[in-house]
Amino acid sequence: MTQPIPTWIVGAGGMLAGELARLLEGHPDLRLEGVASRTPGVPLREIHGHLASDLVTEDAAGAARGIGSVLENGDGRAAVFLALPHGHSAAAWAGLRADLGEAAERVWVVDLSADYRLACGAAHRAAYGADAPDPEGREAFCYGLPELWPGPVREATRAAAAGCFATALQLGAVPAAAAGLLDASAPWVFHGVTGSSGSGVTPRPQTHHPHRHGNLHAYAVDGHRHEAELAQALAGGSTPPLCFVPHSGPFARGIHLTAVLPLAQGASLADARGAFAERFAGATFVDLLAEGVPQVRRVVGSNRADLALAVRGESLLVFVALDNLIKGGAGQGLQCMNLMAGLREDAGLPRSGTGVA
Ligand SMILES: NC(=O)c1ccc[n+]([C@@H]2O[C@H](COP(=O)([O-])OP(=O)(O)OC[C@H]3O[C@@H](n4cnc5c(N)ncnc54)[C@H](OP(=O)(O)O)[C@@H]3O)[C@@H](O)[C@H]2O)c1
Repeated sequence: MTQPIPTWIVGAGGMLAGELARLLEGHPDLRLEGVASRTPGVPLREIHGHLASDLVTEDAAGAARGIGSVLENGDGRAAVFLALPHGHSAAAWAGLRADLGEAAERVWVVDLSADYRLACGAAHRAAYGADAPDPEGREAFCYGLPELWPGPVREATRAAAAGCFATALQLGAVPAAAAGLLDASAPWVFHGVTGSSGSGVTPRPQTHHPHRHGNLHAYAVDGHRHEAELAQALAGGSTPPLCFVPHSGPFARGIHLTAVLPLAQGASLADARGAFAERFAGATFVDLLAEGVPQVRRVVGSNRADLALAVRGESLLVFVALDNLIKGGAGQGLQCMNLMAGLREDAGLPRSGTGVA
């Protein structure tokens, strides 16, 4: 029997860190060894009350020492998840790389932030209002959305997991676009609703409970950052005007997306069904529903994205539901890690949801 791979999470206090620690509890081949935080010395279960972990947070230097000792024997490997705000992951990884020296090559890294997602510096600047923090380092990171591009993830040692809305946008549009079924001269419209956990652990006036409960409103109406990931996926093919309007929903977890995509002349619902079925053949975590529409309640707690297709007039309608904390975040990162480390893609990842949001 092979030993589990020692694993660290950096950014212990966050939403995704808590979810990842929970998923790792049931993982057969990865063992959570340490959690790094700006606040060292705090029991993880004190930060995330739902966890039964005995781990205590450590600072970045402590995590680096722990990882270093695992790598000491020359053929040791370690796994690291960066669960930090964008702009901070790259710095954390640079620090760790410097501490570990050449041994850093034997660390599998998944970044859950946006620091390494966009290949184009100008696109990153436009989306995040600042230069990409580590343009040279970015080359080593593959884009992590395994249902669409599994090959590069399998061959990589570093992955930038796709964003939560970005996952829904791409799963909903890329199969039809790649099959030439969409008209790129008319706008592709997306209406998305996300739960409050998408905004992270720190409450702000627009994101905390009294504001969101019983409420629903649009935001980022001038354009949302995650459109850049869809535009990147479409580069080299169709370059349609994209119009994604995100909304804040009155629930804690989950994303629902409706895409209204202009069909190319002659393209039919049967063509679209064929294209999606072919693209997702063998994809463990995408369910293309034969009947009905995806529902947030059915996917929360799972690493699944449910999709359904319909045609209205000249438009293809694509409905997507997923859990932002799992398929849109921690689960996607774990799926990338599994593939990079040569483990079962679904190890530690639930296909079934909890059924109650
Ligand atoms: N929430 C989602 O649904 C979701 C989905 C996909 C991707 N993401 C992305 O994944 C990353 C983590 O998301 P999250 O929702 O877990 O974020 P979060 O709840 O805001 O947590 C981020 C954690 O990073 C640490 N941190 C280190 N430096 C920080 C700084 N300067 N300011 C604030 N926090 C700092 C903190 O942990 P310590 O206090 O322990 O240091 C903090 O709790 C983000 O880049 C986010 O955009 C989030």
